[in-house]
Amino acid sequence: MWHVTLVVFWPRGAVSMSHTILQRYATRTTTIRIHFKRTILQRGRLIYSSESLSHSLIAHLRRKVCSSALILVSLVFLGPQLAIAEPSLERGTYLVRGPSGCGNCHTPMGPDGFVNEMELAGRLVEDLPVFTAIAPNLTPAGPIAAWSDTELARSIREGIRPDGTVLGPPMPIILYRGLSDDDLMSIVMYLRQLEPVDNDPGTSTYRIELPPAYGPPVGGVASMPQGVNVEYGEYLANAVAHCMECHTTQGEQGPMFDTHLGAGGLEFQGPWGRSVASNITPVGIAQYTDDQLSAMIQQGVRPDGRKMLPPMPYYFFSNMTDDDVDAVILYLRQLPPKGG
Ligand code: HEC
Ligand code: HEC
Repeated sequence: MWHVTLVVFWPRGAVSMSHTILQRYATRTTTIRIHFKRTILQRGRLIYSSESLSHSLIAHLRRKVCSSALILVSLVFLGPQLAIAEPSLERGTYLVRGPSGCGNCHTPMGPDGFVNEMELAGRLVEDLPVFTAIAPNLTPAGPIAAWSDTELARSIREGIRPDGTVLGPPMPIILYRGLSDDDLMSIVMYLRQLEPVDNDPGTSTYRIELPPAYGPPVGGVASMPQGVNVEYGEYLANAVAHCMECHTTQGEQGPMFDTHLGAGGLEFQGPWGRSVASNITPVGIAQYTDDQLSAMIQQGVRPDGRKMLPPMPYYFFSNMTDDDVDAVILYLRQLPPKGG
């Protein structure tokens, strides 16, 4: 698999034309990704990946691109890499119903667990002295229907709504800031095609002060190549599945990622009583085999057969691929041991 990066400058208005020309070369094994920056001249980065992208095709592309009044600044040929995906509904479905488990907070619950006919239609998540958190209706019958895709994406990754207000906890914004552009847009694609469900769960009340923002504007996040390796495991455990949001010891300012990553201790109260997020650094998990760990993550069952307590999203993690679970385990095993 090869990647070709074409860096081009083009005047506004020529974008769709160039896109059409380039689209003609997009075969099933070739993907196009375009990042825009808002400058007078928009700068675009087109990444081609193909098993068989030949030099003659690249030369041809270069001629085509130049001949359509675009200024080609550079043509960079990168070495072999893993597949880079483009946003897709398939990926969005996998993320939302699998590792991201958005429904763990946003799907209403009944006596028998999640009410799947009301997928992502919103519910009360936590009623604590410091806040009453209500996860809004994310179906096209909810408020997000009026937002553009870019606005919706920004609210998920940066926690800022189109009206400028900031989302509060426990929506795991700090970690979602690491979601790649492609995965974020895949999630947006999934939300857009949900069945509209009329449900008004109400609005949250925060009796704490929310930050003005969760950080500077994110800009863009490159795709993380998938694979059974520590890097992809880190991406999954943080940006995608927010394992580390629950499993990192909380300080005054939220999870202490710098000093207590994965050391556990966060308490949850609910109809199930009280549960405490475990230490998932080697201090806590060295005793378990990989199979035991994946049974705990995906089935919520301990090695002695005991069922584990909410709110860990086992129900959603059961949809994770074995490879993705393995990558997460590789990542956990190499974490610095904390809190022994
Ligand atoms: C741990 C619980 C939790 C998880 C997991 C979670 N959310 Fe949320 N989400 C919330 C809460 C609570 C709010 C409301 C925050 C507020 O009122 O300020 C919210 C707000 C939102 C909003 C703003 C909607 C509006 O109308 O204001 C969007 C969009 C959203 N979430 C999307 C997602 C997506 C997509 C995922 C999965 C990738 C996700 N959330 C995962 C709890 C969660
Ligand atoms: C919403 C919070 C939450 C999220 C997200 C979460 N967990 Fe957990 N996790 C918990 C809680 C709470 C427990 C303790 C359950 C119990 O006591 O039965 C737990 C237990 C565990 C355990 C058992 C360890 C032991 O020694 O008891 C493992 C392993 C684990 N989590 C891994 C993960 C991984 C990996 C992810 C992400 C893919 C994840 N968790 C995401 C809350 C969470």
